[in-house]
Amino acid sequence: MTELRSSEWYDGDDRNAYIHRAWMRRGTPSSTFEGRPQIAIANTASDLTPCNAHLDEVAQSVKHGIYEAGGIPLELPVVSLGETQVRPTAMLWRNMAAMATEEMLRANPIDGVVLLGGCDKTIPALLMAAASVDLPAVVIPGGPMLTGHFRGEALGCGTDVWRLSEEMRAGNLTKDQFRASESSTIRSKGHCNTMGTASTMALVAEALGTIVPGLAGTPAPDARLLEASHETGRLAVQLVADDRRPSTFLTKANFHNAIVALAAIGGSTNAVVHLIAIAGRLGIDLTIDDFDRIGAKVPLLVNLQPAGRYLMDDLFRAGGFLAVMREVRDLLDPEALTITGKPFVDYLDDAQIWDADVISSRGNPLQPAAGITVIRGSLAPGGAIIKPAAASPHLLKHRGRAVVFDSIEDFHARIDDPDLDIDADSVMVLRGCGPKGYPGMPEVSNMPLPAKLLAQGVRDMVRVCDGRMSGTAYGTVVLHVTPEAAAGGPLALVQTGDWINLDVRAGRLNLDVPADELAARTPNQATLDGYAAPSRGWERMYVDHVLQADQGADLDFLVGGSGSTVSRESH
Ligand code: FES
Repeated sequence: MTELRSSEWYDGDDRNAYIHRAWMRRGTPSSTFEGRPQIAIANTASDLTPCNAHLDEVAQSVKHGIYEAGGIPLELPVVSLGETQVRPTAMLWRNMAAMATEEMLRANPIDGVVLLGGCDKTIPALLMAAASVDLPAVVIPGGPMLTGHFRGEALGCGTDVWRLSEEMRAGNLTKDQFRASESSTIRSKGHCNTMGTASTMALVAEALGTIVPGLAGTPAPDARLLEASHETGRLAVQLVADDRRPSTFLTKANFHNAIVALAAIGGSTNAVVHLIAIAGRLGIDLTIDDFDRIGAKVPLLVNLQPAGRYLMDDLFRAGGFLAVMREVRDLLDPEALTITGKPFVDYLDDAQIWDADVISSRGNPLQPAAGITVIRGSLAPGGAIIKPAAASPHLLKHRGRAVVFDSIEDFHARIDDPDLDIDADSVMVLRGCGPKGYPGMPEVSNMPLPAKLLAQGVRDMVRVCDGRMSGTAYGTVVLHVTPEAAAGGPLALVQTGDWINLDVRAGRLNLDVPADELAARTPNQATLDGYAAPSRGWERMYVDHVLQADQGADLDFLVGGSGSTVSRESH
């Protein structure tokens, strides 16, 4: 084994080594500091991140594995983001969590790290940090919750919240009934059980090679999660011995496999910004067009909400993620290695589908092509994306009149106004929701439909927005419009009444306004007022440095990595 990084802190007879050892000793044997890998457990457990609250239990199993393999486990609480709790949107804090985690991994005497995540932004932030500090790192996803039931029906957290909310607004459900469903929705520990962002990022991170194959998707209450966590702790010690850092095995081939997985599972559009941001930390050139190019050929095989019917514990009992990936084995890059040192495809031989209603075979897919489609045109010159699998087929080619909202507050204030001039053919346009404009790029693109149209039975309309969409949502939504309105994109110039043409198959989104007329327009004052930059703090730094969605919405100065070397020591 090469010399441990932590030995720079602990080896020697000088005063500094004395201080490092003495303060950490606290009853541990002296062998603690004698060539034993110091393995951090970057733990996003928090009472305010309910999806990750059980990770303390997972951490105990990891510790046992690390210790058993000869390492020293060191729990490191890191910034945690509860998707449903933090304001104004968890995405505003993803880069902060990544930066803080990266710096603490670098600053401390750590040789390797086990990353415990779950809720939407936590795995992306942890992987961005690990990529930039480039220490041996392995992810353990906390796993989805079990399926809850309400009035005899399975409830998908997220997706069914939107559905129940719309049913209440349409008058089909009372407020009391809506409220009574709350305690059924979240039945157990774990993250959302739909194919939302948390589930997506866990499965995609496994396809990327950063999770021991077969682990992602294990439900949070399942004993096998703890068993696998113990084994992952043992593996972390071996990773240090093998010097298997992210930069030694993550290549574009790994991202190719992640994109195939994203399409086959019908995963969240949020994976696009997260994967581009992670790739950026590794110096890998990944673009939104890679998602279209690689994902377009991939069939949808997983029948999970929001695109389908079932939930994550159904996927697990039906054969799990590896059974899905076995069906698309020929589309995977066989060279892409995993954290174990073996190619991802080597783990597919024994996988089997046990319930073909949940996992479709390649020969009988739910949809023949399920990837994310990139859209460009005069309204989105830098690109936008849409998830056709979650859209209504009859709206994939559509011409409609714009109804424009300058902000999400403007939207809420007017959407249920009985006098709002809107019909089922209108195109709802929401701006001011991009990385800079909000700031933080919230999940608001799937705007709820006007109550008066819901009452008429309308369940989907074309929507266009510079924000993101919850992975648990559905609808014909063009999102991540780039450049965003606040960055000077043409989205800022759309006026209510303009005609918009969407053609998903052709990859086009055009504003039907003559170029000279558009050039003469300026954004209205309400639009500009809504984009006033915050005066201080993280938000100020974020707005000054955040990149657009097509570049992963990372901060410009965080792209790339700095490695783990800290050349100066001082107290
Ligand atoms: Fe945490 Fe959905 S709110 S995963």
